[in-house]
Amino acid sequence: MSQVHPVKHLVPDPCVMVIFGASGDLTKRKLIPALCNLAKSNLLPPQFAIIGFAFESLTTEAFRQQLTDGLRDFQTSPVDPKAWDWFVERIFYVQGDFSDPAAFERLKQQVATVEQEMHTGGNRFFYMAVAPKFFGPIVEQLGSCCLTNEEGGCWSRVIIEKPFGHDLDSAKKLNKTVKEVLKESQIYRIDHYLGKETVQNLMVFRFANSIFEPIWSRAFVDHVQITAAETVGVEHRGAYYETSGALRDMVPNHLFQLLTLTAMEPPVSFEADAVRGKQAEVLQAIQPPFPEEVLTKMVRGQYGAGGIGGQTMPGYRDEPNVAHDSNTETFVALKLEIDNWRWAGVPFYLRTGKRLAKRNTEITIYFRRTPFVLFRDTPVRDLETNKLVIEIQPAEGISLQFGAKVPGPIMDIGSVKMDFDYVKYFGDSVATGYERLLHDCMVGDATLFQRADMVEAGWSVIQPVLDVWHALPERHFPNYSAGSWGPAEANELLARDGRHWRHIED
Ligand code: BG6
Repeated sequence: MSQVHPVKHLVPDPCVMVIFGASGDLTKRKLIPALCNLAKSNLLPPQFAIIGFAFESLTTEAFRQQLTDGLRDFQTSPVDPKAWDWFVERIFYVQGDFSDPAAFERLKQQVATVEQEMHTGGNRFFYMAVAPKFFGPIVEQLGSCCLTNEEGGCWSRVIIEKPFGHDLDSAKKLNKTVKEVLKESQIYRIDHYLGKETVQNLMVFRFANSIFEPIWSRAFVDHVQITAAETVGVEHRGAYYETSGALRDMVPNHLFQLLTLTAMEPPVSFEADAVRGKQAEVLQAIQPPFPEEVLTKMVRGQYGAGGIGGQTMPGYRDEPNVAHDSNTETFVALKLEIDNWRWAGVPFYLRTGKRLAKRNTEITIYFRRTPFVLFRDTPVRDLETNKLVIEIQPAEGISLQFGAKVPGPIMDIGSVKMDFDYVKYFGDSVATGYERLLHDCMVGDATLFQRADMVEAGWSVIQPVLDVWHALPERHFPNYSAGSWGPAEANELLARDGRHWRHIED
């Protein structure tokens, strides 16, 4: 392995973290293991405390026990019992309703007590691990009891989970509500895709290497494909998914993060606003589709019964809490065009779906063909184009595909790969994906969080799709089998342009 330089570690200021919805899954599955990993890397301040707030009736002792039990199942690296004892003593619980001012007064008192006892110095951050309908009301309550005030050099920040809004209007309303209480610099709209190493590496790959940037444009790129395929179905989230669908659930957030990091112009620095400004420009350059374009460039699908890995899977309509005649899409494929100097005429094809054949998230850059085939009078008929595949998960790496001569007396060309594999170079990562994001919030770096204009620009692109689909209920669902690669229309979308989706290998 070539030399990896140690990064400068930055220990955050003393602070209290308040988790709303603390008795739910996210806290025990992701947040606590991530905080333990941070503590292990000495990236938590020595003066730190957590206050869980939720509706469930629990004592601090019972909450601590719940998290201790959860840690056994969800820790991503062994936690030293002594370190856990240190940690658990800093955890507290407040029971309350998210709309009850008296509960917020209790929370305020608890924050004051903890700040005094744990010497956290008045810095706080609030994590909304709650259903989206509570985001606005909780921020309003926090404002009313002055917990979001930043006085005497202290900071107060709020992390808001996705989905940020349900459509363009609701996203704008939510932005307005939270901005009545908070400054933009206090708002951290989280997207867990940005916690993934390989996603963060996109910027490094593009801007720390000089060889790719000159060819990263319409002059050399034919088209780009972004796939986020899942083998899981809707699991226990049928009720939520029925109101969301694949488009809202994955596109304006996760897929648009991948798209903007791939397509953005180089920022002038890695300051939060420099990077986010460039990402926002990409979204603003995507022309929202006309209604007729929605019909030809946007495909939706819903899975029926099928098999994955030898197991029979039910169709979406037979999942718990899903209507038997549901029109909710579990798959989408979109063709988008970015109307700017760099990308005009280069289609970006996006697809995501549940119960597909293989779990795989990747970005593939297809380069243009050579101007003509030089190898006349040989078996070489059709040269493969060069592809750069950026694998996000489960495999993490980058590979460049190019043509090489097949050894032998006859001129023939085979497609070969140069591979970079994260694990081979850097070893297995023990991260949950939340470490970097929690740490960034504590040190006040919002680069990897969405700004209001990015969220609204993202919704503006998909709003026409939502409108047309709403007006024209799909009548042919289910239209793909669990374990396949989605509906036939998704293949036709590319076939019409003389292209095809990259074959994702086993
Ligand atoms: C979530 C979606 O935001 O992302 C889920 O709500 C989806 O439906 C998940 O399964 C995918 O995340 P990951 O990290 O497993 O790719």
